[in-house]
Amino acid sequence: MTEPIRINRSSTRKPKPKDADLGFGQIFTDHMFVADFQEEKGWYDPRIEPYGPLSLDPATAVLHYAQAVFDGLKAFRGVDGKIRLFRPQKHVERMNNSARRLCIPPLDADLALQSLVKVVDIDRDWVPSTVGTSLYIRPTIIASEPFLGVRPAKSYIYFVILSPVGAYYPEGMAPVKILVVDKYVRAVDGGVGGAKTSGNYAASLFASDEAKHEGFTQVLWLDGVHRKYLDEVGTMNIMVKIGDEIITPPLTGTILPGVTRDSTLALMRKWGLKVSERQVSIDEVVEAHGRGTLAEVWGTGTAAVISPVGELAYQGKRMVINRGQIGPLTQRLYDAIVAIQYGKAPDPDGWTLTI
Ligand code: COI
Repeated sequence: MTEPIRINRSSTRKPKPKDADLGFGQIFTDHMFVADFQEEKGWYDPRIEPYGPLSLDPATAVLHYAQAVFDGLKAFRGVDGKIRLFRPQKHVERMNNSARRLCIPPLDADLALQSLVKVVDIDRDWVPSTVGTSLYIRPTIIASEPFLGVRPAKSYIYFVILSPVGAYYPEGMAPVKILVVDKYVRAVDGGVGGAKTSGNYAASLFASDEAKHEGFTQVLWLDGVHRKYLDEVGTMNIMVKIGDEIITPPLTGTILPGVTRDSTLALMRKWGLKVSERQVSIDEVVEAHGRGTLAEVWGTGTAAVISPVGELAYQGKRMVINRGQIGPLTQRLYDAIVAIQYGKAPDPDGWTLTI
């Protein structure tokens, strides 16, 4: 699709929230990006429109069979006033990989990147400036064909919406309490755990709700076969530091290939730390805690950034980590990532795209 992006500006402007009032994903900007796909035309009519409802036939495939993928990335207003997108190409690549897994036609990578840049540019006044706030970008593709048969749809809608956000968890940077579940599973080998597809999130709600009722912020999923190896948190990848080894589960298709995970691993390798992408069982974590070598646990994610885990609970046993405080490596990673995102530190790997 080489069509130029049409721009239909909104004639009204919504009031903008104060940075201090920002939560996660409740407020949306003035514009959105939209493009359509039809089998015979490919992706067509890329455009920016006033933010507003989509009109869908009740028979629309996505409403029945969840043929949908999305991604999530952020734009930051730097200390120099410039706006930077963090690793947008990597997010486009991941969205297209998710799309292929769900039989959704991928977007042209240049157009997808342009869609993010253009819509953020039009709503650039919405990018908040306080450290810890950002403009969350949510590109999404849904099957739009009104048809009740189970097969890949013949038409799709791609849209990008924007939301000024603060911290994802109400705890902010305070350590979160996480329940390790072995009663429910998120993904199995050969399934769609590695794709950012809507159904994965719907399927996680029941266990998350149970955990919340017990006072936990989130659940940590174990692998779906043995219910033994750490998978991910659902909104974050997980990392544990046992002794001097930092361990995170490998990308074998059951967990999301997190962009913050990737950035964090790159930084730690650059710092000369001992980093392993390997299976780590919950028993190994429990034993390490018993021996006093479970030094730090944290999650990584675009929305959550780096989130310290202060407590893990498993089969009725509660493990407090680093006295419930943020650990030194967790803090160092947070500071390093945030410094690049807000233009306070050099960006030697070209992770940010200034617009
Ligand atoms: C993200 O970190 O961007 C996510 O998509 C996690 C969650 C908000 C769904």
